[in-house]
Amino acid sequence: MSESYHNSNLHHQRQIINEEAMTELGAALAKWIKLGTIVYLAGDLGAGKTTLVRGFLRAFGHHGAVKSPTFTVVEPYSLDNNMFYNYNKLEVNLKLKSDNELLTDFIKVYHFDLYRLEDPEELEYIGIRDYLDGQAIALIEWPEKGEGVLPGADLIIKIVHQNKGREIELLPQSENGSLIVSRLIANTEN
Ligand SMILES: Nc1ncnc2c1ncn2[C@@H]1O[C@H](COP(=O)(O)OP(=O)(O)OP(=O)(O)O)[C@@H](O)[C@H]1O
Ligand SMILES: [Mg+2]
Repeated sequence: MSESYHNSNLHHQRQIINEEAMTELGAALAKWIKLGTIVYLAGDLGAGKTTLVRGFLRAFGHHGAVKSPTFTVVEPYSLDNNMFYNYNKLEVNLKLKSDNELLTDFIKVYHFDLYRLEDPEELEYIGIRDYLDGQAIALIEWPEKGEGVLPGADLIIKIVHQNKGREIELLPQSENGSLIVSRLIANTEN
């Protein structure tokens, strides 16, 4: 993660009272994410990281199961282009460009779970750089297990258990991350 980027104004905390609210947060994130964005999901076992990813993917029309790829490290999802552009609020211009250039038929989203990684170097073997090609979106559970090899995040979402529900912290790590957080704040606060 980038040490140089600092925008403490946008550091944002909120309560996520139940599972449904966690999927709604995932769906809200999906609305403001750009292609190529890397999101770290930090939090203990059972914090709700995968629940957030499920909400994110469902927002783009994915109906199948979404589970932590604990043993396979990464689960790829191909999202329908139209679904993506119809739901997402930021990539409209890119859509117009891609109509001429025919960039991709599908939007690639990679859900990583690095829990079982014994050494960050293992990410080199699975070809992490090929996955994160600047167009694919990556949502990464247990990013600390890949420290040193894993590319930096645009946004870190920290999830902490509470007596009831969870507290989340949104920590932008790039201009792109800041944009996402400011949009989330503006569009989901009462
Ligand atoms: N905001 C919330 N409040 C209460 N329960 C929640 C919340 N978000 C998720 N949960 C519940 O927490 C449980 C664990 O969620 P989930 O599998 O998403 O965790 P995880 O962080 O991905 O765990 P792991 O590190 O083991 O993969 C699920 O039963 C889910 O319904
Ligand atoms: Mg999980």
